[in-house]
Amino acid sequence: MVPTVEYLPIDGLPEFRAETTKLILGEDSKAIAEGRVACCQSLSGTGALRLAAEFIAVNLGKDRRVFVSDPTWGNHHAIFAKAGLEVVKYSYFCAKTKGLDFSGMMADLDKVSAGDIVLLHGCAHNPTGVDPTMEQWHKIAALVKAKGVIPFFDCVRLRRILDLANGLSQNSTAIAGLPRIRLGRPRRGCGVRALL
Ligand SMILES: Cc1ncc(COP(=O)(O)O)c(C=O)c1O
Repeated sequence: MVPTVEYLPIDGLPEFRAETTKLILGEDSKAIAEGRVACCQSLSGTGALRLAAEFIAVNLGKDRRVFVSDPTWGNHHAIFAKAGLEVVKYSYFCAKTKGLDFSGMMADLDKVSAGDIVLLHGCAHNPTGVDPTMEQWHKIAALVKAKGVIPFFDCVRLRRILDLANGLSQNSTAIAGLPRIRLGRPRRGCGVRALL
């Protein structure tokens, strides 16, 4: 076989991007059917985050705040700050129960303004390993929608879990665990989801 030396298009391999959007949003996604989804292939999770941070700063403005869980993957702070965005923490982990501080999280997210960005871990939260239940995800989705904030899903662990599961099985627990929550259209700005 002769190796190809062709470059990929700037936004990545079309087939890969199409499968990725279906994986994240679901085969039956209305947004995909209506052509409202943009997808860009990047170099690693860190690269995807940096692209998304730059996208937010350039297209939505540097006055947007990015809310991240306390704690979160350490580099989240640096990546968004480097793009000129303010990073604010919201409560997440309860050291006493070693579980989710859901009431603290909801109280902090209630202070978020329309147009701000809320970073959520799509599954297998790093570093705590603690995820909201599906019922809690629905409550988070309702709050996000009501307040007009922009949800940003870092789904890096989905990739790692799928690697371990040895393939993209629709029945895998990772897929089932990813919140397919209907957020509707944010009032200001646009929805950002990152598959890392
Ligand atoms: C939540 C989260 N996002 C992003 C990354 C970065 O991914 P990568 O190692 O592919 O750059 C990590 C790495 O551990 C992570 O835990």
